Amino acid sequence: MNVNVLLEPGQKGTCEKTVIIIDVLRATSSIVTALANGASSVEAVGSVTRAREMKKDDPDLVITGERGSIRPEGFDLGNSPLEFTSEKVKGKRVVITTTNGTRAIEKFAVADSILLAALLNIDAVTRQIVDSEAEVTVVCAGTNGVPSIEDVFCAGALANGLIDKGYVTDDSARIALATYYRHKEDTGSLLKKESGHGRYLDSIGLGDDTSYCAKMNLHDLVPISLGQRIFVR
Ligand code: MLT
Repeated sequence: MNVNVLLEPGQKGTCEKTVIIIDVLRATSSIVTALANGASSVEAVGSVTRAREMKKDDPDLVITGERGSIRPEGFDLGNSPLEFTSEKVKGKRVVITTTNGTRAIEKFAVADSILLAALLNIDAVTRQIVDSEAEVTVVCAGTNGVPSIEDVFCAGALANGLIDKGYVTDDSARIALATYYRHKEDTGSLLKKESGHGRYLDSIGLGDDTSYCAKMNLHDLVPISLGQRIFVR
């Protein structure tokens, strides 16, 4: 079995039938948290306008997301995973639009199966892949076309669990593994000090998000995307 990694979504490479999307800061961390706190589903959409139109048609939707990491006007929540409490999302259909994460989900929507990973659920995703023996492509969402170290680290954590089970890696997966081995003892400082986007979030007062997103395996669930709808099976 193969695991290959795209360090950012525009990188050329083989796309296997199973794709894992990673956006540690913060889209996939928010989606994992929304589902862990009881959202019935999360829908990833490409634009702020589309989310607002959906809310007009169905006022019960919880529309969420960011542009420039800030909650767009009229949205119920931003893209802070800490906002996705059970009080806000339990039993609700959530819609999310973000700059890089939800666009990566849209871009790879042609894959047979799309799973979402963050540090918060990386062991659950690894287990599911091992059990299914799938060939996988891991897509790091990055930031505006540039790789993000926290996504690459997370891809490395996944690759580490897969090579133990006999998976063969490409060179990008080996870069991810090297990043994982270098930083695995201190994910907090990886996200706060090494990550450019982490430093940016800190600078605009969202440092609690980076601390939360650095936690490994807080949630034992695997979001699956079918069409635009993301849920837990
Ligand atoms: C994104 O999708 O670009 C991110 O989740 C940005 C953010 O931190 O909100």
